[in-house]
Amino acid sequence: MTWLDLCLAGVGLYIVKRVLTKKNPAPFPPGPKGFPLVGNLADMPSVKPWLAFTEWGQKYGDISHAEVLGQHIIVLNNVKTAVELLDKKSASYSDRPVLPMGGELVGWKNTLVLLPYGDRFREYRKNFARVIGSRAAMDTYHPVEEMETHRFLQRVLAKPAELSQHVRHTAGAIILRISHGYYVKENQDPFVDLADKAVDQFSASTSTGAFMVDVIPALQHVPSWVPGAAFKLKAKEWRATLEQMVQQPYQFVKDQMAAGTAPESFVSNLLQGRTLSQEEDHIVKWSAASLYGGGADTTVSAIYSLFLALTLFPDVQKKVQAEIDAVIGPDRLPTFADRDSLPYVEALAKEVMRWHTVTPLAVPHRATEDDIHNGYFIPKGSLLLPNIWFMLHDPRTYVNPNEFNPDRFLTRDGKEPETDPRTICFGFGRRICPGMHLADASVWISIAMSVAVFDVSKVVENGVEITPEIDPTTGTISHPKPFKCSIKPRSAKALELIQQDPIH
Ligand code: HEM
Repeated sequence: MTWLDLCLAGVGLYIVKRVLTKKNPAPFPPGPKGFPLVGNLADMPSVKPWLAFTEWGQKYGDISHAEVLGQHIIVLNNVKTAVELLDKKSASYSDRPVLPMGGELVGWKNTLVLLPYGDRFREYRKNFARVIGSRAAMDTYHPVEEMETHRFLQRVLAKPAELSQHVRHTAGAIILRISHGYYVKENQDPFVDLADKAVDQFSASTSTGAFMVDVIPALQHVPSWVPGAAFKLKAKEWRATLEQMVQQPYQFVKDQMAAGTAPESFVSNLLQGRTLSQEEDHIVKWSAASLYGGGADTTVSAIYSLFLALTLFPDVQKKVQAEIDAVIGPDRLPTFADRDSLPYVEALAKEVMRWHTVTPLAVPHRATEDDIHNGYFIPKGSLLLPNIWFMLHDPRTYVNPNEFNPDRFLTRDGKEPETDPRTICFGFGRRICPGMHLADASVWISIAMSVAVFDVSKVVENGVEITPEIDPTTGTISHPKPFKCSIKPRSAKALELIQQDPIH
């Protein structure tokens, strides 16, 4: 059997299903007819799927529909519609898509982001809520954030050209401290390397259209030796990485607890004084791994985009530095205790989260019931995609949305500040990002400490100033395209502050 036979079989099954399908109780929301290859769009780096979906919004309205090989896709181009469906009707819109390659064969469906809606899901969420579910709960981890961000400054000072690696290393260090009480090594940390490898494999295994098994799920059951089933060997290899990423740090905490040396962490809190059933063990282990899976790459994208913004918009940088100089002075680094006194830093944090949209289409929610919404039929099994990118660039909500302008979040000339993007960028309903307070803290402290001590500017090569391009990558998590910038201490005093020992 060749791939072509399998494809034809898939299309044949789809046609039979369509013929047998009962009549719909209401029309689908409007949308492109025919065969819109949205999946393929997502894989073409030159085409940003969120821009294609924004065009749907302009053509068809805030809710639009397409059908691709029997899969109904509902695109939401407006916050109000997303809240009405994903939040107010969350009981039937909180499942996730079944992804045969990444979810089933590799095993990512055990992590929270792809976990089916149900009892296990509630247990994972409870664990997240207990540890990092509010700004107040995050207070416990402020010392970790401050210390690791100070170390970040030192790494950047030592090797500014390796900014993106430092951002990644620091995000990993913060999450592993919180999740497993693990202190990362300065270079080549085995847990960080393992987790990064697994996260890359997550992207590869869940990439839309990359694997035929995602189009024809029955292929999951084809034995590995069948010609064309190389994906099964790949899945086996990636599954092994994922299991190591989950098991090794978990075992590390258990060993430390047995030796009485475990620092407080997400895992140690959940294990302390309890004998766990097999199910409870699974839940603690995989919810801890979900912290890394959900948190590392997203925070990396947000903080890297901060440096892009500082490179491109020197006036904003001057303004935020002036605020820090006036409120903090040159003799110490900012801390979370200063947060309420630094409104422009706060505004910059909001603008960074709005301007570069880390998760432009969030993560699809799957409908578990048929629904009729505002006269439109949304069948069970539909995938709902909130176009977060557009919601954060909607001219009805943000004046000149493509302009980078933190001032939009300040009260000025009697005008109300524009909508806080953090009410949109973390998604909706029962699936809303459970790491939002951690993400918010990481972005805030990175801004405050970095701008306090560094000047970030365009690099000059052969006498020519290089202006980085704004070209975010496609994929569930969108990153700024790699760029060069110059990062130098602002003054001798700033250099001294960076070089001080990170206290704690
Ligand atoms: C700038 C940083 C971040 C952004 C923009 C972001 C955004 C999002 C979005 C849009 C979703 C999907 C929500 C939905 O389905 O409606 C999500 C889910 C998730 N995020 Fe975040 N996130 C960030 C950081 C973090 C951090 C730091 C963690 C953990 C430490 C985390 C853990 C997760 C997890 C586990 C899920 C899956 C939740 C579920 O399916 O129930 N995220 N995030």
